[in-house]
Amino acid sequence: MSANATLLSGTGLFKAYGKIDVLRGVDVTVGPDEAHVVIGPNGAGKTTLFKVLTGEVSTSRGRIEFQGEDVTRLPAHQRVHRGFGRTFQVARVFAKLTVRDNLQLACEARSRRRNPVAGLSAQSAGAIEDEITALLAEAGLQRQADAIAGTLAYGDRKRLELAMVLALQPALLFLDEPTAGMSSAERRSTVELLRAVRQRRRLAMLLTEHDMDVVFGLADRISVLHYGELIASGTPEQIRADPRVREVYLGDEDSHA
Ligand SMILES: Nc1ncnc2c1ncn2[C@@H]1O[C@H](COP(=O)(O)OP(=O)(O)O)[C@@H](O)[C@H]1O
Ligand SMILES: [Mg+2]
Repeated sequence: MSANATLLSGTGLFKAYGKIDVLRGVDVTVGPDEAHVVIGPNGAGKTTLFKVLTGEVSTSRGRIEFQGEDVTRLPAHQRVHRGFGRTFQVARVFAKLTVRDNLQLACEARSRRRNPVAGLSAQSAGAIEDEITALLAEAGLQRQADAIAGTLAYGDRKRLELAMVLALQPALLFLDEPTAGMSSAERRSTVELLRAVRQRRRLAMLLTEHDMDVVFGLADRISVLHYGELIASGTPEQIRADPRVREVYLGDEDSHA
């Protein structure tokens, strides 16, 4: 694999909380345009791996590179500036503002970031308006544009959070359990939405996910985290056939597709 075939790489990542080793030497990569899904039982360390990669917590050892540069010690907000986008297990939106105003804030933040001196004048109000309209359509939130975010149905709130992250125009999207707590209909529409987003944008994704229909519906590659170690990484077909994975995680079910 050539150097620029990797967008993100984490090498030898360790994280301990007190005496508990939560990550024990994890190597993980994400290629450009790749959808890489990390699976593993509850408590395996998936969210911790995300936090280490996004800079929310620091790794005790190891190295993280993004677009060929060492970001191991960069704080989270600087990684966002470099192109990290992140959603959370519990969606983070401004609950008291409308959907539209939430998106406006996200678009303005991006615009300021790109043009720190010129500020808002760098992008006209009309251009931001157009962008909000496009984001509403992309996330399927046109009808909820004027709703207060805190009153949205769960799935819509998650869509809003995703749209806000997309407003930042990330190169890599981190999605921690994007369908947690959703109905099966909401899950299916989330898979469709994420697929459409991938097709429309040049965007790599690193996801964690429990629902196997979602995992196998989205993944180019799957890695299995087990007690803080990656025990397997491969195509969905390879993972499905891996005896160790079946033993520790997938169980004896015949098919998850
Ligand atoms: N801030 C923390 N302090 C102490 N222990 C933590 C903290 N965060 C996570 N852990 C522990 O680390 C382990 C992995 O947690 P987590 O990364 O959330 O796993 P997953 O997302 O795979 O369910 C668990 O045993 C959890 O209790
Ligand atoms: Mg988790």
